[in-house]
Amino acid sequence: MAKSTLSFVCQNCGAAYNRWQGKCDSCGEWNTLAEEDPTGSVPVSIRSKRKGRTFALESLSGKTQDAPRLSSGMAELDRVTGGGFVRGSVLLVGGDPGIGKSTLLTQATSMMARAGHRAVYISGEEAVAQVRLRAERLGLADAPVQLASETSVEDIVSTLSEGAVPRLIVIDSIQTMWTDTVESAPGTVTQVRASAQALIRFAKKTGATIILVGHVTKDGQIAGPRVVEHMVDAVLSFEGEGSQQFRILRSAKNRFGATDEIGVFEMTGLGLREVTNPSELFLSERELGSPGTAVFAGIEGTRPVLVELQALVAPTSLGTPRRAVVGWDPSRLSMVLAVLEAHCGVKLSGHDVYLNVAGGLRIQEPAADLAAAAALVSSLVNAPLPTDAVYFGEISLSGAIRPVAQTPARLKEALKLGFGRAILPESARGDGGGDSGLALNSVGNLTTLVAEIA
Ligand code: TYD
Ligand code: MG
Repeated sequence: MAKSTLSFVCQNCGAAYNRWQGKCDSCGEWNTLAEEDPTGSVPVSIRSKRKGRTFALESLSGKTQDAPRLSSGMAELDRVTGGGFVRGSVLLVGGDPGIGKSTLLTQATSMMARAGHRAVYISGEEAVAQVRLRAERLGLADAPVQLASETSVEDIVSTLSEGAVPRLIVIDSIQTMWTDTVESAPGTVTQVRASAQALIRFAKKTGATIILVGHVTKDGQIAGPRVVEHMVDAVLSFEGEGSQQFRILRSAKNRFGATDEIGVFEMTGLGLREVTNPSELFLSERELGSPGTAVFAGIEGTRPVLVELQALVAPTSLGTPRRAVVGWDPSRLSMVLAVLEAHCGVKLSGHDVYLNVAGGLRIQEPAADLAAAAALVSSLVNAPLPTDAVYFGEISLSGAIRPVAQTPARLKEALKLGFGRAILPESARGDGGGDSGLALNSVGNLTTLVAEIA
């Protein structure tokens, strides 16, 4: 009999090695290698020995039913998925344990079930009673969701093959699922991958939408959901600061929509509340008139979002001053600091610099440069910025303020929230900003801005 080719597979990224080692060369994680059968092979006795069957090849011009989408009943979730669930699609929802994935998906399945669709919630982590308890707390106990506590993929697939095709199936979580076709223990990369494959096949065959929940863990005991990322149609991540009530749903990959949209939720005693106007939320705890804060008029996907940037610049006692950023790109901070030093005569090499984006939001736009620079200078000279002003604009290495996209949308949002003026790039005036109802203070160069604040 052929010797089984056992090997060592990284439980984080799925790389296989033929001997154990402490560190995975592929992803750099430590202690993530576990012994398993890398091929995940089906024993020869089970494998079918039939010849391949022929299938029909089709032309590109053929008629296909347009991807029919179904609203989840939660506008913020639909925004991130690109307008609802596409038939036969599989989504992976990742996030830290305890962030609220089960809560979000209990709410989504309940909304679908209430709208008359067959919605199934399979929990591999919690008993039926626990899921019921959560639903009761959320006031959703009356929703006709079909519920089970199961971990065998074969059993799930045969159960769901009966009756009407479910419109939405939630598998909470993919790490708890196992299939008979591979021998590895549940939770290993091989099992997670094989289970996901079986469920994806079921979705494609029947047209059901499946949401796989995946915990993101660092300790390597549970296979990272990263191994299924390339197999699914969309990867959403549910994020938030532990201490904050805000939760942000973001898409990292989406075959049926844009990836820059975010959905904003607030965790309350009654579950997740959708936040339709995030700016109001992010600005709700503003300390008016304190130095070092500037409001950035940003764009997240198709929606303008106003958020406060907070900076603290303080003399350092260290040889190498500290630079710490939360919610923004550290290399952009370094760039803004370098431009302030080199072109504006603002000396920061003897200062620690901290920058924080309020509310747990993560900003990716370079348009935040100007707001960051304003907050930094304001903190350094200890002079508060005008409380009714918003800032946006990209800073180039020469210190020039470059125009950014969607000026009118940014200004409209600022006006709606009661702001009176905008500090923005020069060319933005002609860009539809002229009749915005705000006082526009255009700056061509960072030096001008620094002179105005200091
Ligand atoms: P849960 O959805 O179980 O997280 P996950 O599935 O991502 O592990 O939610 C966990 C947290 O949410 C838990 O600490 C309690 C909190 N929570 C609320 O604050 N309000 C609620 O209505 C519910 C159901 C949970
Ligand atoms: Mg959970």
